[in-house]
Amino acid sequence: MINEISAARDSALVRVAEARTTDDLRTLDVDVLGKKGALATLKAGLGRLATVDEKKAAGAALNEAVAAVEAALEARRRELGRAERDVRLAAEALDLTEFAGRPARGRAHIVTQAWQRLEDVFVGLGFQVAEGPEVETDWYNFEALNMPPSHPARSMHDTFYVDHGAPGSTVLRTHTSPVQIRVMQSIAPPIYMIMPGRVFRNETTDATHLAVFHQIEGLVIDRDITLADLAGTIDAFTKAFFGTDFGSRLRPSYFPFTEPSAEFDIRTPSGQWLELGGCGMVHPNVLRAGGLDPEEWSGFAFGFGIDRMAKERHGVGDVREMYTNDIRFIEQF
Ligand code: FA5
Repeated sequence: MINEISAARDSALVRVAEARTTDDLRTLDVDVLGKKGALATLKAGLGRLATVDEKKAAGAALNEAVAAVEAALEARRRELGRAERDVRLAAEALDLTEFAGRPARGRAHIVTQAWQRLEDVFVGLGFQVAEGPEVETDWYNFEALNMPPSHPARSMHDTFYVDHGAPGSTVLRTHTSPVQIRVMQSIAPPIYMIMPGRVFRNETTDATHLAVFHQIEGLVIDRDITLADLAGTIDAFTKAFFGTDFGSRLRPSYFPFTEPSAEFDIRTPSGQWLELGGCGMVHPNVLRAGGLDPEEWSGFAFGFGIDRMAKERHGVGDVREMYTNDIRFIEQF
């Protein structure tokens, strides 16, 4: 009996060693250790042995044989599993340096490039990015921003109205400021957010004015935010975006949704001042419209035109050039 057990064990070990795949091992497992396998048959025959000592010896030998075969199966399973995984990984590997035919010919538009760089710089300063709808309600675009229907500042935004809902209730947003309200309504302070996007004004176009252009809005809401934080953020941004040899200043101005309000300008290394956008401390009525308590929270906001920044950066004389799709213009960037 002991000899038969050794023979069954050795034959099982040889078959394990010869298995070529993990599928082979699965079949083998059932064959050698299953109910119909040689070791199980021998176990069933234990009862026929004459003496208790013989039964004990054969039982112990069977246990050892089963343990040896199980260990061999496990080791071989691991070995083959590793080899199969390596083959699969090699087959699925993507060579990102592989030359895939003709190289792409397109590249991002200079406004898209400016938009992406702005996002990079602000994300580097700890801001998150949000976007809002281009078709807005009058409430988000004007009223929540402290511009009730008769407010004179509305005339500064010559508005495209959309034929939807009650007359005058739906607009193409004239600035990215309505996204401030949407952000305040959807996340709890502290808020450090930028909101880039396309805006629309019913304007006659000229070298510095487009009817469809892009702005980037910034909103910070936290406890004890002051004008000094606004000035510091604008200056940190200016240096990170344009270079450390640039400077910035705030000039008093007026926007209904900020109080106090300012225009901010950047100083080029040659000493020239360029106007970039508007900013100010968020008006208490705007905080309230966004569902925040002005006694608890304060903050600042800014907004500037991305197209004009791209124009300045690349020395483009007329913003309209950027949208004519003239190949001679596009190929320069
Ligand atoms: C606004 O739109 C305010 N929402 C900005 C703001 C945000 C102020 C938050 C305070 C707090 P304004 O109308 O000045 O402000 O436009 C901001 C910038 O958009 C301008 O500085 C300019 O860079 C750009 N811009 C305005 N009109 C045009 C236009 N027609 N074509 C191209 N760029 C424009």
